[in-house]
Amino acid sequence: MSLLLAMTGWHVEDWRARFQGLLPEMPIVVLGEAFDRRAVHYVASWKHPPGSLTGLPNLAAIFSLGAGVDFLFADDKLPAAPIARVVDSDLTARMSEYIVLHCLLHLRQQRRYDRQQRAGVWDDDRFQPAAHSVRVGIMGLGELGQDAATKLKVMGFDVAGWSRSPKAIEGLPCFSGDDGMKAFLARTDILVSLLPLTADTRGIINAELLSGLAQGGRLGGPFLINAGRGGLQVEADILAALDAGTLKGATLDVFETEPLPSESRLWTHPGVVVTPHNAAMSEPEAVASLVAAQIRRLEAGEPLQHVVDPARGY
Ligand SMILES: NC(=O)c1ccc[n+]([C@@H]2O[C@H](COP(=O)([O-])OP(=O)(O)OC[C@H]3O[C@@H](n4cnc5c(N)ncnc54)[C@H](OP(=O)(O)O)[C@@H]3O)[C@@H](O)[C@H]2O)c1
Repeated sequence: MSLLLAMTGWHVEDWRARFQGLLPEMPIVVLGEAFDRRAVHYVASWKHPPGSLTGLPNLAAIFSLGAGVDFLFADDKLPAAPIARVVDSDLTARMSEYIVLHCLLHLRQQRRYDRQQRAGVWDDDRFQPAAHSVRVGIMGLGELGQDAATKLKVMGFDVAGWSRSPKAIEGLPCFSGDDGMKAFLARTDILVSLLPLTADTRGIINAELLSGLAQGGRLGGPFLINAGRGGLQVEADILAALDAGTLKGATLDVFETEPLPSESRLWTHPGVVVTPHNAAMSEPEAVASLVAAQIRRLEAGEPLQHVVDPARGY
C-alpha cells in the first residue's frame, strides 16, 4: 500500500520527506518515477498533470494539498475515488487577516495616504466613515467566509453573507442563491469573494454583478476584494467598472492568468491592490500532518473528513 505524490510547481522531495516522517511504514512514491500502480491506495495532489492519475485500480482516496479543489475537477480523467481537501485553522486565520486588512485599508483610505506621503502632501481630511456605517457582503459562507464574517464584525463592520444554500447564522444576515443575489448586492459597499471556482461560479464577478453593488454608501462607491479564485472574475469588466467610477477600488489576490501578465492594466491601475495569490498559505508541515491523519483514519476504518462533492464541484 503506497501514497503517490502528484504535484507541479512544488518541491516534491520535501513533501516525500515530510510524509515519510509522518507515515514511516508507508512507501511514498512520486509521479514520474517507476512505481507499482496497483499498490497506490492514496494520492496527494497539487495541480497534478491532467490524466496522470489513471490506471490506479486500488485507489481509496485523493487528497488535495490545498483548500481548493478546482484543479482536480479540471482533470476530466480524474479517477472516481473520494476526494478530501485541506481544512486548516491556521489557513483560515490567515485568510481572515487578509480580508480584515483589506477591508480596513479601503475603509481608512490607506492607499490615498500612501500616495500623499510619497508626494509630501499633508491633507488632514476629516472624512473618516465609521466601520459600522460600511456594509461588507461576503460571497461564500464556508470555512473561510464564516470566519472572516466573525472577525469583520469584531472590527465593527455591518456584515452579511451569500451562499448557495440558505443559512441561519446568528447575528449575520444571510442571502442565498439567484433569488437572494440582488438584495445582497444592493446592501454591499465592500464585496468580499471567498467562493470556490466551479461551473456555477466561473465568471460570476462580471459587469452585471458589479452593476448591482450599492452606489450610495459611505465609502463613496463600492469596493471588491477577491481572494477566492481568479476564474471567478472577469478582469475586463472590473477594469471597465473602475474606469467608469462605478467600482471605487479592488483588492485582488487571484487572477484569470497567474502569474498576472506584465501587460495587465491591473498592475498599474490606481484603484487596484495586487497581491500574488498568497492571501492564505498553509504551512506544508501542517498540511502533511492533516493528510497523514486522514490516512490513519481510513486505515482505522473511520470515515474521511472534509469530503468534496463532485456534483457541486466543491
Ligand atoms: N487566495 C488564497 O490564498 C486562498 C487560500 C485558500 C482558499 N482559497 C479559495 O477559497 C475558496 C473557499 O474556501 P472554503 O474553505 O471557505 O470553501 P467551503 O468551505 O467549501 O465554502 C464554500 C462556500 O461557497 C459557497 N458556494 C459555492 N458555490 C456557490 C454558488 N454557486 N453560489 C453561491 N455560493 C456558493 C458555498 O455555499 P454552501 O454553504 O451553500 O455550500 C459555501 O458557503 C476555496 O475554494 C479556494 O478556491 C483561496
